[in-house]
Amino acid sequence: MNTLLLGSKTEEIKKAAEFLKDGGVVAMPTETVYGLAADALNGEAVKKIFLAKRRPMDNPLIVHISEIEDIERFNLVSDFPKKAKLLAEKFWPGPLTIIMKKSDIIPDEVSAGLSTVAIRLPSHKIARSLIKESGTVLAAPSANRSGSPSPTTAMHVMNDLSGDIEAVVDGGMCDVGVESTVITLATKTPRLLRPGLVTVEEIEEVIGHIDVDHAVLFKLESDEKVSSPGMKYKHYAPKAKVVLINGDSKSFINFVNNEFENDSTVGAICYDEDIKHLKSKTIPIGKSDDLQAQAHLLFDALRQVDELDCFTTVYAHCPTKTGVGMALYNRLIRAASFEVIDLE
Ligand code: TXA
Ligand code: MG
Repeated sequence: MNTLLLGSKTEEIKKAAEFLKDGGVVAMPTETVYGLAADALNGEAVKKIFLAKRRPMDNPLIVHISEIEDIERFNLVSDFPKKAKLLAEKFWPGPLTIIMKKSDIIPDEVSAGLSTVAIRLPSHKIARSLIKESGTVLAAPSANRSGSPSPTTAMHVMNDLSGDIEAVVDGGMCDVGVESTVITLATKTPRLLRPGLVTVEEIEEVIGHIDVDHAVLFKLESDEKVSSPGMKYKHYAPKAKVVLINGDSKSFINFVNNEFENDSTVGAICYDEDIKHLKSKTIPIGKSDDLQAQAHLLFDALRQVDELDCFTTVYAHCPTKTGVGMALYNRLIRAASFEVIDLE
């Protein structure tokens, strides 16, 4: 299959929507990461997403809507709880995914056999106009090959999926850079399943206390039951080894420089201020106090680890676990297969 690279002109969005109406799969930009979209109400179309990504079929997908009214218009849920409405009013359109009890209209391919469905109203203009133009709602996981870092540019998507999907709509680099915050309201106490730009603190201001699932910050035990099937799978890990370093900037720099003395194939994912002090090759991800900039660049940095093709091991600062730092930590700790060196 020849994958079309489309722009954001009206005719191009129309062309992408035609593919979707015909049961095809198209990658679209969102404010978080690129998504690989298909008609969420067409099980056969949704199957093609799993095939293209080589995603395990037991990992459910997020349904993307273009306005809050779509939930009732398409009858997507069997229960739209008060707390979900409050969160939707506060954070939609935007990088928050809300899990609720599903209706019968949701195909098994989308919910992977669960009784719930994840719903998100993205703020990206192209995503919203594509959903509208397609006349349906769109199931869309991140548009990467399963296991690799989520794509934040159209080129990342092309590198992973060219030849396997109908088209990519190029909307430039994604603003947020990490995937949406995922919260379930299908449990007695609301529970965070994946941290993102919308933080625990911000959510608690709207609906009160929420639980943070153990797997957000800790490695799953082999017999532990997962709240979200995606938690089971290896994520974001480049081929070169990534190791997190817990310590202040000075000890990070000393540590990396020492390692580099013995082995010139080590490198660093580092803050902008570190570059001039480090002897190794570096991949900068923004200023140390700018967590949003770090989120914006994180996945591109992880992709560069392999693209630069010169590293055996790359050291990265271990982020704080609060606020937006929780989202960074959650992705980096997986990229590092939970390997942390503590210098404190
Ligand atoms: O920002 C995002 O959320 C991006 C863009 C494209 O919208 N999408 C995304 O989708 O990251 P994906 O499939 O890569 O990640 C969705 C996560 C998976 O870990 C999946 O297991 C979980 O959400 N999930 C989806 N539906 C669920 C459900 N009903 N119950 C529990 N977890 C669910
Ligand atoms: Mg993903």
